[in-house]
Amino acid sequence: MTKMNRNYKVGDLIYDAVIYDGMNTSMDDLQFYKRWLPKNKAVRILELCCGTGRLTLPIAKDGYDISGVDYTSSMLEQAKLKACEGGLKVEFIEADIRTLDLTEKYDLIFIPFNSIHHLYTNEDLFKAFNVVKNHLKEGGLFLLDCFNPNIRFIVESEKEFKEIAEYATSDGRKVLIKQAMRYENNSQINRIEWHYYINGEFYSIENLDMRMFFPQELDSYLERAGFTVIHKFGDFEEEAFCDNSEKQIFVCQ
Ligand SMILES: C[S@@+](CC[C@H](N)C(=O)[O-])C[C@H]1O[C@@H](n2cnc3c(N)ncnc32)[C@H](O)[C@@H]1O
Repeated sequence: MTKMNRNYKVGDLIYDAVIYDGMNTSMDDLQFYKRWLPKNKAVRILELCCGTGRLTLPIAKDGYDISGVDYTSSMLEQAKLKACEGGLKVEFIEADIRTLDLTEKYDLIFIPFNSIHHLYTNEDLFKAFNVVKNHLKEGGLFLLDCFNPNIRFIVESEKEFKEIAEYATSDGRKVLIKQAMRYENNSQINRIEWHYYINGEFYSIENLDMRMFFPQELDSYLERAGFTVIHKFGDFEEEAFCDNSEKQIFVCQ
């Protein structure tokens, strides 16, 4: 049997808060998550893998009591800074979502923006699902989104070394990112490399390993973890999940 490569990597620059925020300016998912928030603002919301607060802060701005969890301290520092600048009171917790243990329970928990692709083994995934279950109130909602693995796209992308982003950061750096990828068949991990060029000079190669979840397996994992899938959408406009859906978006109870 071939031994599985258990070295999963996400390079430091990928989750460097300023580099991350400069790149991730799209807010396509915000309206979707807002739509599923209870109307009663006295509820408690928990975002797992909140990063720099891209979604956490606008939700807090709407008057919700939201807490965010992430294990990358630089991302959380940036989130706290932005909350402070915006005059928002948000609790940010530095912790691993596989082992999180809070005394509080929540009405809605979500893991947005493809973050579950960083749960590389089934053991990791089930640990995180258990954490969600332990922190969810009776009848509470659990939402998550990730990609729908597209084999044709992966095969085509493996042949190319292509530019995927060009932008300026808030501290004035010009960033260019080129991407290479190789899908690893035995681990289901897409071994992605981002080659960073900063201010016109090659800077570094950063790994962005993403574990792929095939639709039927994810449905059954959620069920096995004790969740009932109420809706499965294929995009943030809530089209039903189908053959050519780019995303898998779950609303569970
Ligand atoms: C794609 S970013 C999403 C950030 C944010 N939710 C957003 O929408 O912009 C993924 C985040 O997940 C965090 N992360 C990955 N695995 C984690 C884990 N096991 N526990 C806590 N945070 C984790 C990373 O530090 C990173 O900030």
